[in-house]
Amino acid sequence: MVDRGVGQSHGKIILMGEHSVVYGYSAIALPLLGIEAVCRIQPASQMVTFDFEDSLSTAVFAALDSLDQLEAKISYEIDSKIPQKRGMGSSAAVSIAAIRAVYAYFEESLSLEKLEMLVHQAEKIAHSNPSGLDAKTCLSDVPIKFSRDTGFARLAVALEAYLVIADSGIQGHTREAVDKVAQFEKTNRPHLAILGNLAEQTELAIKAHNSREVGRLMSLAHKELRAIGVSLPFVDELVEQAIVAGALGAKMSGGGLGGCVIALAATLEDAFMIREKLFEKGAQQVWIEKV
Ligand code: MEV
Repeated sequence: MVDRGVGQSHGKIILMGEHSVVYGYSAIALPLLGIEAVCRIQPASQMVTFDFEDSLSTAVFAALDSLDQLEAKISYEIDSKIPQKRGMGSSAAVSIAAIRAVYAYFEESLSLEKLEMLVHQAEKIAHSNPSGLDAKTCLSDVPIKFSRDTGFARLAVALEAYLVIADSGIQGHTREAVDKVAQFEKTNRPHLAILGNLAEQTELAIKAHNSREVGRLMSLAHKELRAIGVSLPFVDELVEQAIVAGALGAKMSGGGLGGCVIALAATLEDAFMIREKLFEKGAQQVWIEKV
């Protein structure tokens, strides 16, 4: 047994298809390789206590349980650059990092299949009916197209454009948002179908390297996400201001009811202008990713 186990993962952002992916439609998501979560496990004098309201604690439990090590005397710490509850994959990424760290600590090999199964167990805490999109993207080094039924495929994205990701500063509520959409499933169904279709169209636009079209589709998706009640007035305001500042399109991203806004910029200069505008309007943090 080694003294220390270390596990790592990274954040994600959903370009298209949040919520509709829960209903079987395709979604497109990008890993945020520079925004990492690292977990370290150390020997301790006491056994771990668990909090099953917390996905990280549940992930550690699931990993220890799968190794028959629930009585191990260890402690764990997480160093995560991924803001929590912002639709950036924090819960999936910390779960992945923690499970990897536990397995590394006990020098046990961890298959991708087992890792996914354990993450899924922990993700059910973060929200009741996870599609698996977050975990898949946090496990991928490249953008993916994902659907519940067909799984995932790597998607080459080379738009020569820039994605501006802005944290609204309002904690998102994925579980509540997913439940809210389900509660009004009948009236939401047509919107979910449109969202699914917009994701398909986005894939075509990505393959045609047509960033203008991707931007247009993003703005259309935001309207549908508003219609199913998962946006907030402040998030709508940031989306609008990104367009005013020159974005090709913008939308909320992730579970919603807070969280992040993403905007597509044709050039780096445009991305800087959008970033400035979003800060001015109250965004807490802004990242720029080449896509
Ligand atoms: C959450 O990041 C994305 C949702 O589509 C839920 C899910 O896919 O499980 C809202």
